[in-house]
Amino acid sequence: TVNGRANEVDVEPRDLLVYVLREKLGLTGTNIGCDTSTCGSCTVHVDGESIKSCTLLAVQCDGRAITTIEGLANGSLHPVQEAFTSEHALQCGFCTPGMIMAAASLLNEVSNPTEEQIREGLEGNLCRCTGYHNIVKAILAAAANMQGHRQAAE
Ligand code: FES
Ligand code: FES
Repeated sequence: TVNGRANEVDVEPRDLLVYVLREKLGLTGTNIGCDTSTCGSCTVHVDGESIKSCTLLAVQCDGRAITTIEGLANGSLHPVQEAFTSEHALQCGFCTPGMIMAAASLLNEVSNPTEEQIREGLEGNLCRCTGYHNIVKAILAAAANMQGHRQAAE
C-alpha cells in the first residue's frame, strides 16, 4: 500500500524500493542521492517508520504500508512541510523530501525535541547545500506548531 492506495507491482527480486517507487509508480519525489544508504534523500516511511528506501528490497515491502513525500500532505501541507517553507529550509531542494520524511518521523517519536535531538535524529540525512541551520529551525517550528494544535484539541 503506497500513500493509502493498494498497488500490485511485478518486481525483480533485486529491485530496490526506491526504484519501484520512482520507475514503476511514478513517485519521483523520493530522490536518489547516493544509492549507498549514506545521504537519506530516499527516506520514506514503512509502517510508520522512517527508512532509506535504497536499503530495502521492494519484495520486502509486500503487504506493508509505505508513505512517500507525495502522501504526507493530507488535504493540507504537513506542519513540517509548512515550516520548511516559512523558515526557508531549502535551497536546491534535493535533500528536502528525505529531510521532511525523516523529520516527520522524528516528531512522531519525540514531540518536543531539543535542537541536539533534531541534529542527532537527522544525522543520516545530508544536505549538500549545507542548509542545516534553517532545517533545524524549521523542525523546531513544526514541533511547536504541532504542540499548539494538540493543546488546542485537549
Ligand atoms: Fe538512499 Fe542516498 S539514495 S541513502
Ligand atoms: Fe540542496 Fe539540501 S537543499 S541538498
